[in-house]
Amino acid sequence: MGAGLHRELRPREPRSTSIDLASNDYLGLSRHPEVIEGAAESLRRWGTGSTGSRLVTGTTAEHEQLEAELAEFVGAPTGLVFASGYAANLGVVTALSGRGSLVVSDAGSHASLIDACRLSRARVEIAPHRDVAAVDRLLSTRAEERALVLTDSVFSADGDLAPLAELHRVTRANGAILVVDEAHGIGVRGDGGRGLVQEVGLDGEPDLVITATLSKALAAQGGAVLGDARVRAHLIDTARTFIFDTGLAPAAVGAARAALRLLRREPAMADRVLERAADIARVAGVPAPDSAVVSVVLGSAEVAYAAARECRTRGLDVGCFRPPSVPAGTSRLRLTARADLTPAELATIATVLGEVLAGARGPAVPA
Ligand SMILES: Cc1ncc(COP(=O)(O)O)c(C=O)c1O
Repeated sequence: MGAGLHRELRPREPRSTSIDLASNDYLGLSRHPEVIEGAAESLRRWGTGSTGSRLVTGTTAEHEQLEAELAEFVGAPTGLVFASGYAANLGVVTALSGRGSLVVSDAGSHASLIDACRLSRARVEIAPHRDVAAVDRLLSTRAEERALVLTDSVFSADGDLAPLAELHRVTRANGAILVVDEAHGIGVRGDGGRGLVQEVGLDGEPDLVITATLSKALAAQGGAVLGDARVRAHLIDTARTFIFDTGLAPAAVGAARAALRLLRREPAMADRVLERAADIARVAGVPAPDSAVVSVVLGSAEVAYAAARECRTRGLDVGCFRPPSVPAGTSRLRLTARADLTPAELATIATVLGEVLAGARGPAVPA
């Protein structure tokens, strides 16, 4: 293991006094009383686990209500929930591809989409990051009839956005299906957090499938595939991570439904995430991001790791991305904004980040 690349598990306290800039709890709802009560109600009603695969024992009316609510929220005709966003990505990609098909994935796609490619048994091509012309070339020169294009809407490491409208145009022109992972888009982009697909007007398109996680802005756990009714039916028939996995736990269903209700009631929460991200970016000396993710590239894994440790010692919980999550030489602090950061917390963030980053970056070199 190279310098600064060792990973370690850090204990987590139930009530930390640190400021959280590491989690994906973008709307700050994971401890919201209504979300906790939503989880508790479902837990009391249905018990602790789903007790089996959705096909055998596990489909409750609440699973189906959550699916309908999620689908309606992002503007898709139907939804199907999975035990995690990871399982949703594995499930949809393997079910819609297979031998004799082509899968084209953006170089920045999340690890779960990469693993989905590996499991797909399709010919897999990795397109350079956000390169629509390359996707077009790969699709238009293929021999396979079926093709799938995979991308995050908001890329998890850098927080940048996929060129969804252009990507959909070439995907459609080439008779392929576009799968968009909205893990970091829902709750942040689009009207009231409906996601980037909705923001660019692609909601409801029959050749576009959305995948989502319930574990970030929606403060619960689990994942979903949102799209055409035929896709849902096909997933129930063939997606192994749906068929052979225990259904989403009732408490997670209840929590996600409550979080979604809150977001509908207070759509401005989504705007606040972006405003707080701009505040954090300003004090970190980097451009304001298009998402909740503020990426502060520091270079070597050792420097990034030391800076992250220093932040934590001083009461800021931050993420630290190193290879293989990001390319060598681009190790970074990954700071995530939350809608509920207070002015006092923002002041502390400015002081601590300012000092830690000055040390990590070293003295300014005169031009
Ligand atoms: C872009 C993206 N897709 C999928 C996932 C997986 O979601 P889950 O944590 O619900 O399995 C993540 C989570 O880290 C992610 O960032």
